[in-house]
Amino acid sequence: MPLTRLAVTAVRNLHPVTLLPSPRINLVSGANGSGKTSLLEAIHILGLARSFRSTRLQPVIQYEQDSCTVFAELQSHHGVASKLGISRNRQADYEIRINGQSARSTAQLAELLPLQLINPDSFRLLEGAPKQRRQYLDWGVFHVEHRFLSAWQRLQKSLKQRNSLLRRGRIERSLLAPWEAEIVAAGEQIDGFRQAYLQQLKPIFEQTLGELVELDGLTLSYFRGWDRERGLAEVLDSQFERDCALGHTQAGPQRGDLRLRLRGLNAAEVLSRGQQKLVVCALKIAQGRLLRQLDRQQDCVFLVDDLPSELDQAHRQALCGLLESLECQVFITCVDADSLSNCWQPDTPLSMFHVEHGHIVQTE
Ligand SMILES: Nc1ncnc2c1ncn2[C@@H]1O[C@H](COP(=O)(O)OP(=O)(O)O)[C@@H](O)[C@H]1O
Ligand SMILES: [Mg+2]
Repeated sequence: MPLTRLAVTAVRNLHPVTLLPSPRINLVSGANGSGKTSLLEAIHILGLARSFRSTRLQPVIQYEQDSCTVFAELQSHHGVASKLGISRNRQADYEIRINGQSARSTAQLAELLPLQLINPDSFRLLEGAPKQRRQYLDWGVFHVEHRFLSAWQRLQKSLKQRNSLLRRGRIERSLLAPWEAEIVAAGEQIDGFRQAYLQQLKPIFEQTLGELVELDGLTLSYFRGWDRERGLAEVLDSQFERDCALGHTQAGPQRGDLRLRLRGLNAAEVLSRGQQKLVVCALKIAQGRLLRQLDRQQDCVFLVDDLPSELDQAHRQALCGLLESLECQVFITCVDADSLSNCWQPDTPLSMFHVEHGHIVQTE
């Protein structure tokens, strides 16, 4: 669902601003340090209640201000507008409002505003810890499978209980049984959701990747977090002694991962930075495409920070073409607007914004 109005107050260096973005392509240009990333960060906070630059929101609040606020109106395909707002103060209290009502859960924001971020750190999705790839996968599962969130919450709760019992030292195994039953039930459900999602995503990813870069033989596979041949109950049972020694549960969907390999080698160890970024772009665009295919009311908004970085002209052009073909709303930042202003079809709605010392002005 595109943002039709966006109001930002006291986020980093940005002056209070209200923008009327294009439902399709929004180009945001400006010198280094002008505030481009901060604008994307504001939208990210609205959709996920967190920044992509710091683990805490405290540094995002403008110096000498007590709180920051982001508010937006979203247009749905049926023309019904939703209003989302979030504000966060220095005491770490935050307030979420959805259509004028106070809301407690950030999942409600995420559901209304599915966001995909592509930035200069995106290559880390391949190189970094499995947690990032799980988050990527679960983003998709969350948006297409409404039972995922409750299964995930059940898993987290039962894992926490089992782990805390494990850390107590000598324990009755029967104490673990109810939590293990819950881990197994929720865990196998999550695994089933992830597999069903990946089965749909994989062909779209392969096609998207082929449109973006030539990397024949790149494979995407899924590791569910425990032995493929055995049920989770059996694995938990057989790993009891080790889990006790380590104080946490080693098998389950909390250890799942996606593996990207080229000629049998880990893709992160053989691809260039630019190629890794393109693979990540293909992964994220494929999720956007799948979401659109499954549910047209759930278009995601793409935030693309510093699009030109690490990409040559031909790949920039190919990436812009793909983002355009998604037909969803995209916010793209770059230093020099000329580097991207000619990448679009003449009839694609395009708005341009220029940022200078935190002032955002619409130029087109
Ligand atoms: N909490 C804050 N309050 C005010 N200014 C900040 C805060 N945090 C960062 N800044 C400043 O905001 C500016 C904008 O940064 P950024 O959005 O990353 O710029 P760009 O992406 O355009 O290069 C930087 O000059 C930075 O020093
Ligand atoms: Mg930046």
